[in-house]
Amino acid sequence: MLFKGGTVYTPEGARHADVLVADGVITRVEPGLEPSGRVVDARGLYVLPGGVDVHVHSRDPGFPEKEDFASLTEAAAAGGVTVVVDMPNTVPAVDSAGVLEAKAALARSKARVDFGLWGLIRSSSTAQDLEEMAAAGAVGFKAYLAYSFSLSRKQVLYSPGVDDPDLEAPADYGTLARLAPAVARLGLPLAIHAEDPTVLAAFQRPLLTYGDLLESRPPEAEAVALSAAAAVAREAGVHLHVAHLSSALGLQTAEDAMRVGTELTLETCPQFLLLSADDFDRVGSAMKMLPPIRTAADRAALVDGLRRGVISIVSTDHAPHTDEEKSRSFAEAPAGSPGVQTLYLSCLQLAKDMGDVWLAPRWVSEAPARLVGLEQSKGAIAPGYDADIALVDPKGTTTVAAHEMRSRQRHSVMAGRRFDFAIREVFLRGELVGATHGRMVRPALVFG
Ligand code: NCD
Ligand code: ZN
Repeated sequence: MLFKGGTVYTPEGARHADVLVADGVITRVEPGLEPSGRVVDARGLYVLPGGVDVHVHSRDPGFPEKEDFASLTEAAAAGGVTVVVDMPNTVPAVDSAGVLEAKAALARSKARVDFGLWGLIRSSSTAQDLEEMAAAGAVGFKAYLAYSFSLSRKQVLYSPGVDDPDLEAPADYGTLARLAPAVARLGLPLAIHAEDPTVLAAFQRPLLTYGDLLESRPPEAEAVALSAAAAVAREAGVHLHVAHLSSALGLQTAEDAMRVGTELTLETCPQFLLLSADDFDRVGSAMKMLPPIRTAADRAALVDGLRRGVISIVSTDHAPHTDEEKSRSFAEAPAGSPGVQTLYLSCLQLAKDMGDVWLAPRWVSEAPARLVGLEQSKGAIAPGYDADIALVDPKGTTTVAAHEMRSRQRHSVMAGRRFDFAIREVFLRGELVGATHGRMVRPALVFG
């Protein structure tokens, strides 16, 4: 199979080249290759490595009315994303190898694109739990610093919790310090939802307006969590990954930690780069998420962090709740929104507006693939890599419309937005997506 005549983004930069594929793997990337089988006409198109979204919430198992692996991966495929890495707050939460294996089997039966799985760190987790999850294929571990755990429902809840014997306290900095050496030994990343519960408690209030949401989740919560987790990670020599970075203060705190040698990656999301609180009147509760979409100044700082390469990863925090749930009053609408389908388009637009469209595949594919240990198989168009390819038309346009969303939920913070690109065709291991099942991806360098 030959992708002929396109502009290919390779690890050495963009070039005119053909891409030869055999058995789902890229074998050559050179100009003037002769076809011996099927030819895909890529003239006038960008040939990009498929997106790797390291922050999605499949809701599967647990909340089929919100999403499942089939609808999640259809949305991903439509947006040029060929690997999704699912967060562990499904039900039962992914806190053991057994739960992880059962979830992998379920995902295998439904997924249209490849998938990876994060494991959960609970305040009661042991090093052995993590070792077993790593052996079962976890890409890394996520700790929700401000979310408690319901023992009866085996579920991560959105609040730190009060005096309730059913609620296990959130993982805290002590939990991180206790488990970081084990994570470091495994060579896997330690990911955090960076909101400090004591800061949140000090600002708690009823959420009647968007302003209340902003005041209840101040940037200090992000900065404090990040700073403390960074100190722990640095001491243990573990790689810290900060999910959905949302604030200028968080960014500055992360840069301070990087300056003293902390191994740390920053992920932000299209919604933090393209929207600010000013958009709420137009967009409504689709914008309700945690951490919140903040001020125009926060947005500008994040865009600048991305431009400078300090923020290396853009993933989505694709977190669907039902259209009906999201149409409730602001106080009652749950936090989180779908996003995987508009990830690549958003980033192509941002990169183009920054003056270098080729930054997009670095944020969306190359850097996230490296984070989850897939740097030898995903995230690049080069010999030896899986032929996960998005063909993008730089002369096409896409206006985001609710009815074209493939997620089980149709609301989108990007609805109505126009992008100067169109995704034409998407291939997973050399086959048009949909023609083949997704496989589970596992980090290449797991210990043991
Ligand atoms: C996420 C969800 O709904 O699972 N919600 C959100 O607002 N981001 C949880 C999370 O990523 O923190
Ligand atoms: Zn989160």
